[in-house]
Amino acid sequence: MMKQELEGNLLSPLPVVLVGANVKSRPNYLVIGYSSPFDFGRHIFFSLYKKRYTRIGIHENRTFSVNIPSENLLAETKICGSKSGRDFDKGSLFDTFYGALKTAPMIHQCPINMECEVTDILDYDPNEGIIGRVVKSYADSQCLVEGKLDWRKIHPIIWTTGGDFNYYRLGERINPEKDKTN
Ligand SMILES: Cc1cc2nc3c(=O)[nH]c(=O)nc-3n(C[C@H](O)[C@H](O)[C@H](O)COP(=O)(O)O)c2cc1C
Repeated sequence: MMKQELEGNLLSPLPVVLVGANVKSRPNYLVIGYSSPFDFGRHIFFSLYKKRYTRIGIHENRTFSVNIPSENLLAETKICGSKSGRDFDKGSLFDTFYGALKTAPMIHQCPINMECEVTDILDYDPNEGIIGRVVKSYADSQCLVEGKLDWRKIHPIIWTTGGDFNYYRLGERINPEKDKTN
């Protein structure tokens, strides 16, 4: 088979996340596609354009949240990824709760939430690499089976890059040992 050269980063697909921060004492949320676990999961890294309204709150409080929306939040996710908190109160779309850090707003309607404290900010003008330590993680109890997460119950929104800029859903669980049941 021939290899075709393509432009850009093809480390994809990735889950869509909603990053939250308090800006001027109001929760604000934006869609982040370029996020990653870092330091074997103890930290989270994401790319943030400097012009984002959410950035003001991240710099001010040195905290943020990472929320994983389910498919049923596609409409709200679309708003968080297209409207800026400068023009629209995105906090009003969700019920917000706070955890140990007190200043990282989390979305009750998202089945997975993490609160993070900023440890590093890398300047990659015109954007920044934000690195935060995961301080506490939360999951909806109905997404757990025997105390462990079952991702089939989360229905995350999967985002793809490399020219195919679309949303997908998570597929079935597969097992290399064919005779083992899932
Ligand atoms: C699928 C998708 C992925 C996105 N990924 C990023 C990202 O990684 N970094 C970023 O700065 N903006 C990203 N955005 C854009 C912001 O979510 C969007 O501009 C948002 O309205 C900014 O809100 P704010 O000004 O209230 O912070 C993405 C948008 C979409 C739809």
